Amino acid sequence: MAQTRLRLGVNIDHVATVRNARGGAYPDPVRAAKLAEEAGADGITAHLREDRRHITDADIDGLMAALAGPLNFEMAATDEMQKIALRHKPHAVCIVPEKRQERTTEGGLEVARDENRLAHFIAPLRDAGCRVSIFIAADQKQIEAAHRIGAEVIELHTGAYCDYHAEGEFEARDRELAALTEMAAFAHSLGLEVHAGHGLTYDTVGPIAAIPEVMELNIGHFLIGESVFRGLGPAVKEMRRLMDEARTGNSEA
Ligand code: PXP
Repeated sequence: MAQTRLRLGVNIDHVATVRNARGGAYPDPVRAAKLAEEAGADGITAHLREDRRHITDADIDGLMAALAGPLNFEMAATDEMQKIALRHKPHAVCIVPEKRQERTTEGGLEVARDENRLAHFIAPLRDAGCRVSIFIAADQKQIEAAHRIGAEVIELHTGAYCDYHAEGEFEARDRELAALTEMAAFAHSLGLEVHAGHGLTYDTVGPIAAIPEVMELNIGHFLIGESVFRGLGPAVKEMRRLMDEARTGNSEA
């Protein structure tokens, strides 16, 4: 298939995590989002968690008002979040599982077991013009269910692949990468647009960016951490460069 340009969505949640550690106004996630856009991000991702541990309702208001490009609004499948999404009508809504105790989104959404409810849940979001994405593991059963409920996009969870890499478990990492590659092709064959994300770093992004069916990567925690050392703009630009390099197989890209 043709090598289309891979989009980069920058997740700015953890700018809000740092701000909230002191409870003041700094650093401002909206300012970070604008900087990321200027540095080449194709979109901004923000997760309004039920406990508001990082992004707040006011941040979503600010992002909707200030962004030049699309907002990918991550949320749990709850009535409260559906109302907020329908009020803002962001470009995209990504449905993620959420547990209060977890440090981050630990697994993909269990779509197959909750198909009926999720089909009814996403219908009004689609009617409002939002592109609905479902965050799932590289599991054929979940992908088929996401397709049946009417999602247009799936985002494949790359967390396990990244964890295995970090732990030096390279065989397990490569098995996970093979599953992600196979399931990206399978989802694409059903007509789903394929995104990927979670835990990606400069060291792990290449093989995921090289999967031809993947159209967008959403990357946050690593980029916000790296921006302490090189600044957010240069951190985003380096990620963009590595993605382009992997996509084209050309180190001059
Ligand atoms: N994609 C989804 C659906 C997520 O929930 C997250 C984390 O909020 C990310 C991507 C970004 O993950 P990370 O911050 O580890 O790069």
